[in-house]
Amino acid sequence: MDYLELKEYLGAEMLCVDKALDQAITFIESELESDIGDAIRHGVMSDGKRLRPILCTTAYRECGGRAEKDVYDLSASLEMIHAYSLMHDDLPCMDDAELRRGQATTHSVFGEDVTIRAAAALIPAAARQALQSARKLECGASGAAVVVRELLEAAGAGGMVGGQWLDLLGEGQTLSPKELDELHGRKTGALLTASLVMGALAAAAETETVSALASYGRSMGLAFQITDDVLDATQSAELLGKNPSDVDLDKSTYVGLYGLDQAKEHARERIADALGALESIDIDAPVLTVLARYVIERER
Ligand code: IPE
Ligand code: IPE
Ligand code: MG
Ligand code: MG
Ligand code: MG
Repeated sequence: MDYLELKEYLGAEMLCVDKALDQAITFIESELESDIGDAIRHGVMSDGKRLRPILCTTAYRECGGRAEKDVYDLSASLEMIHAYSLMHDDLPCMDDAELRRGQATTHSVFGEDVTIRAAAALIPAAARQALQSARKLECGASGAAVVVRELLEAAGAGGMVGGQWLDLLGEGQTLSPKELDELHGRKTGALLTASLVMGALAAAAETETVSALASYGRSMGLAFQITDDVLDATQSAELLGKNPSDVDLDKSTYVGLYGLDQAKEHARERIADALGALESIDIDAPVLTVLARYVIERER
């Protein structure tokens, strides 16, 4: 697969993921008062790249998974967790952002109280979504529990939530390279890694394959967050759809610690590691191979 084909692939996948997300939100809306439902729709259905769900569906297929619709339902659970994390990330008590995915942040439109509750409602909804969809895939009902555990562990204190906490504690601090890797790995790498592992587990892949994809995910996840920091330092709000803010918030970033050139070099090295992990196993993974490059070459 070349880069142009990847762009087409991403566009087609995005449509299928969005359809699954729309259905999931329609169900949540039926259980909630309308302003919370509107806030959820605003936070989730906005113009994101859908990278986590697409990593999940791609890993699933490249590990031999055959189901179509149900895997998009599974992948939607990852975007629900990701969208909640962005809604909270933008709150005044966190990064205090007004722009996200090219539109006003959820709390700027619906207020902080509604946004906090709307985002919180997405967490159990995502767990239920993952459980219901995974049991229909090759992993079966017993494997589905393991798939959901991956999602919850990656989202939790040992993963994303813990990483977000380290990120806030790191404001105004100079972290060591090891501490920064830990921060990036948890706040961003954990959910990206879970996306791949969940796809592989759902397809009932061999243990060795799941481990190799986890290793690919850890390296790619670091590269992804380093690139997010590079884009924050170099791109306009118009192109990114969000306001660059790391310098103003005195965040601990790779760009801050090493400078732009070395940060980019570090991201390239991590992608080489990710590709090494893929090559160590005996599966044909053309899309994951090209996706690794996309992670550091993307413009937003
Ligand atoms: C932004 O994630 C937050 C980070 C973890 C760096 P994305 O860059 O995947 O954001 P969307 O989903 O495309 O908006
Ligand atoms: C956020 O990292 C990571 C999350 C878990 C949401 P950032 O704070 O760097 O993400 P952006 O730059 O606001 O998208
Ligand atoms: Mg943040
Ligand atoms: Mg932020
Ligand atoms: Mg950022």
